[in-house]
Amino acid sequence: MSDTLLTKLESGVLTVTFNRPEKKNAFTVAMYEAAANALRQAEADANVRVVLLTGAGGVFTAGNDIGDFMENPPTGEDSAVFRFLRALVDASKPVLAAVDGPAVGIGTTMLLHCDYVVASERVRFNMPFVQLGLCAEGASSLLLPRMAGTALASELLLFGEPFDAATALRAGIVNKVVPPANLLEVATERATALASRPAEAVRVTKRLVRDPLRAEVHAALVREGAEFVQRLQSTEAQEAFMAFMARGAKK
Ligand code: COA
Repeated sequence: MSDTLLTKLESGVLTVTFNRPEKKNAFTVAMYEAAANALRQAEADANVRVVLLTGAGGVFTAGNDIGDFMENPPTGEDSAVFRFLRALVDASKPVLAAVDGPAVGIGTTMLLHCDYVVASERVRFNMPFVQLGLCAEGASSLLLPRMAGTALASELLLFGEPFDAATALRAGIVNKVVPPANLLEVATERATALASRPAEAVRVTKRLVRDPLRAEVHAALVREGAEFVQRLQSTEAQEAFMAFMARGAKK
């Protein structure tokens, strides 16, 4: 646990809160490390039955910290972001998410690995990878076409424009959409309900649902990761990052 990633265990539910609201909970390397560790510890702790991911300050996460991308870019499969994604893909216990405000980049793609997602009515999802000169990540190139159909998956990934909760519901990314004021209450109720189900039966069922694609998901992470690491060095990406940083400087 660190200041930017909070954990709380109650009634078998480990709530993991991304906590960097002044930067819209944008992920630094340290946050990926902390999140990967929290997921690994949850695996080992018999008191944890279910994990609930959420963000502080009415935001899920603005995705990877763009300054951090420039200073500490992921270089390969050992990088913190990949460790986090692998921990999520390999989680044997259910992972739920309560999503409010912007959910950008990995803030959307991590949801493809969650077992139940509650979104607030005002949430804005976005996978702006192409706009940033990057490419699909988080196994989204594999999972999203299966979940949403190729037409909608291509639209969301290629245009990289924000989309609303109703579209996310249509894409199969979220299970339920609720008013922002009820978000945490509804998600916690669902997490607590799952935590009270027979633990073995829950884990076996999750395994049966996820196992058939697991090897392909890991292969997609490697495939996308190799392209992504290359794209980060591209002129297209560097220009997009500079434009974002310059925007901040002008404020
Ligand atoms: N990396 C680094 N800093 C980020 C960030 C990111 N991904 N997202 C937001 N921030 C910072 C902003 O620079 C700003 O910092 P400042 O107050 O020091 O200037 C602060 O967080 C608040 O963000 P702001 O843009 O003012 O909030 P907003 O409500 O107007 O917009 C977003 C929120 C998420 C839509 C917008 O910040 C955004 O588009 N962020 C970039 C998302 C992105 O491209 N992520 C990478 C995906 S791979």
